[in-house]
Amino acid sequence: MIAQKSLLERHQAVLPRWLALYYQQPLELVDGDGRRVWDAAGREYLDFFGGILTTIAGYKVPEIVDAVKSQAERMLHTSTLYLIRPMIELAELIASLAPMPNAKVFFTASGTEANETALLLAATVRKSNQVLALRNSYHGRSFAAQAVTGNRGWSASGLTPLNVSYIQSGYKYRSPFRDLDDAAYAQACADDLRDVILTGTAGDVAALIAEPVQGVGGFAVPPEGYFRALKPVLDEYGILFISDEVQTGWGRTGSAFWGCQTYGIEPDVVTFAKGVANGLTMGGVIARAEIMDSITANSISTFGGNPLSSAAALATIHYLLDHDLQANALRIGSRMLSRLKTLEQRHSCVGEVRGKGLMIGIEFVTEGRRPASALATAALEACRERGLLVGKGGLFGNCFRIAPPLSVTESEADRACDILESAIEAVGQ
Ligand SMILES: Cc1ncc(COP(=O)(O)O)c(C=O)c1O
Repeated sequence: MIAQKSLLERHQAVLPRWLALYYQQPLELVDGDGRRVWDAAGREYLDFFGGILTTIAGYKVPEIVDAVKSQAERMLHTSTLYLIRPMIELAELIASLAPMPNAKVFFTASGTEANETALLLAATVRKSNQVLALRNSYHGRSFAAQAVTGNRGWSASGLTPLNVSYIQSGYKYRSPFRDLDDAAYAQACADDLRDVILTGTAGDVAALIAEPVQGVGGFAVPPEGYFRALKPVLDEYGILFISDEVQTGWGRTGSAFWGCQTYGIEPDVVTFAKGVANGLTMGGVIARAEIMDSITANSISTFGGNPLSSAAALATIHYLLDHDLQANALRIGSRMLSRLKTLEQRHSCVGEVRGKGLMIGIEFVTEGRRPASALATAALEACRERGLLVGKGGLFGNCFRIAPPLSVTESEADRACDILESAIEAVGQ
């Protein structure tokens, strides 16, 4: 305990104040195996947040560890000035899995940088810096990525290279249209999109950037027809659709490999990061060749596509495909969701349980749907005390985000549900 406190003091002394830590007594995680992690005191936890949806295959997966070791023993970095075999193989693999034809891939060092690139591509192709984004979104921490982030809690600056207009998102629980049925809701959002284009832009909008399921926004799943209703309006104005799949890619949502495919939508550009290399630094952009090749200046990301991250990503994607972890995400996610959904009836503090595949959100409220942020924080602590790590999010910090590695087993999922129920029971009194 003393050692942990002193590490916390050292953290606070030299790292930014805004780099938030979970828990009253912050955790130092030192080891992992499968879906389990251990802290510095040797205490074991089930990890149902996976380093913010990044440990997608699990800890100590031999195929991934071996690929990283074997590359590290040869060389870590060469730069894109030279041919990088693992990067080329990875781009071929990702292009073959892309949700659009004739795809090319550019690798970056983070999701933020991937979204910067996607916005640059759209602005270049459309010769416009006007962009549409969804309320309650999160796209990263650079100036452009913050500008399309519809969440005050993550918008540190109003300075932006873009001219952004926000449209209604699929977060129905707190929408002014929430009393409509799903079909009418989707139509109302499409009408709002048209209205925003007509009243808030000069018409020649470059792109809409959207998360298929809003991650930081509390795992807000849009109603079934939401994106399908928006798409014809975008097409009418030639507006490109950028699907930010940083959280939803690689089978996480269960019913499709890419989140946008769940809704039968073909994006013009996809961005990815987080899980792609199971924890090694990597992000990227996928776009049709004519969009990707539209940039006429030189461009480079020094760390993008480096041999080590590329080797890890190749091993990770093959592991996901070989073990059909998308199917596992669907099966286990549905099992957890149907069990946790009953919490809505049993606890007045549970406003909504929602999800897609292995992205399950629980929204904590008090009377009148008011956000219960302190209760969510107490429930997070109660889960930790019982040996379960989950995430928190939402516009008001009042939502649980439950997102284990896609390799999670039935018994681990059942154990996590037991703990969630017991923790909510304890704090909801
Ligand atoms: C949907 C989404 N897009 C972009 C990002 C930014 O990614 P990174 O933190 O790798 O820059 C995140 C990070 O949480 C994200 O959830």
